[in-house]
Amino acid sequence: MSNSSKKIGVIGSGLIGRSYTMLFISAGYRVTLYDILPEQTQSAKKDIWEQLGALEREGLLRGTLTRQQQFDLISTTQNLEECVKDAFFVQECVPENLEIKRSVWFKVDKLVDNNVILSSSTSALLPSVISEGLEYKNRFIVSHPTNPPFYAPATEVVPASWTDADVKEKTIALLKEVGQVPVVLNKEIKGFVLNRIQYSILGECYRLIRDGVVSPEDVDTIMSQGLGVRYAFMGPWETAYLNANGMLHYGELYSDMILGIQQDLGPPERMEGPTLEAVNEAMRKLAGPEETIPARRQWRDRRLTALAKLKKEMDKA
Ligand code: NAI
Repeated sequence: MSNSSKKIGVIGSGLIGRSYTMLFISAGYRVTLYDILPEQTQSAKKDIWEQLGALEREGLLRGTLTRQQQFDLISTTQNLEECVKDAFFVQECVPENLEIKRSVWFKVDKLVDNNVILSSSTSALLPSVISEGLEYKNRFIVSHPTNPPFYAPATEVVPASWTDADVKEKTIALLKEVGQVPVVLNKEIKGFVLNRIQYSILGECYRLIRDGVVSPEDVDTIMSQGLGVRYAFMGPWETAYLNANGMLHYGELYSDMILGIQQDLGPPERMEGPTLEAVNEAMRKLAGPEETIPARRQWRDRRLTALAKLKKEMDKA
């Protein structure tokens, strides 16, 4: 069966719903996009058409279909039943709110059967908490993308303890097919992996500012001109491995020092008050005032596009 005869339902047509739609159509799947706000699906289609154009111009359009062929695979609806009817995979991309997500999934649960895969984009809600009580909770899984998914393809796949094995395997296969890089968590954990790492970094960056060690701009420089440059191509473990003659050697050289520094890190703290205000002021100078954030996002995306092209070329070599 060709992919164009297979249907995926995408629920919620905001930032992530649009990205998932673009990923699925790149492999030729038909997508029915649903939102409670009709104007959202209309603006999603317009936005997707423009984004596909930009990808085509950069040579980054995924798959073998043209921009028009991919776009023609999208339909929109204001009817949830129409969205999920006959779909083999449903990707939910509604706001990060447990009540909204559970209310959507309880409606979907009444409209599907035991063959479908029910996948949520949630950034932090545990799959067992969202799917508890669903008749088809065994078909439920989290597929948490990195933003923006087209340029940062790592996707966390998080099953609940009751998720069927084939749901995990089929979700991994689908994500790979559309060009994503799935990473499976063996068990669910608060914040999954990406945000646990991200928030550990943010926590220490916050303490360094609060304690007056360094300016907010200079913290960002350490990442963008230091650690982040390497992390665009390899993770912290390979970085360490290459910084010595292997991991065991790295441990001999640095484990005591690392432990000493880790023991010196402070406890978690809520980001607020004068420290947060100081960071905001610094970021307004660095990245522009709040009203210019959309333009700065475009600046970011141009750089991410260039990096994605470079990585693609280097991976081919
Ligand atoms: P968004 O706010 O851009 O889009 C949410 C969409 O859902 C809106 O179009 C809204 O009209 C629609 N919606 C609201 N209630 C609905 C309902 N009951 N039924 C159908 N549609 C409904 O949000 P975004 O950023 O796309 O986030 C969606 C999910 O993806 C969240 O769980 C978020 O945590 C997760 N996520 C977001 C990332 C990001 O950087 N924005 C990254 C990775 C995951």
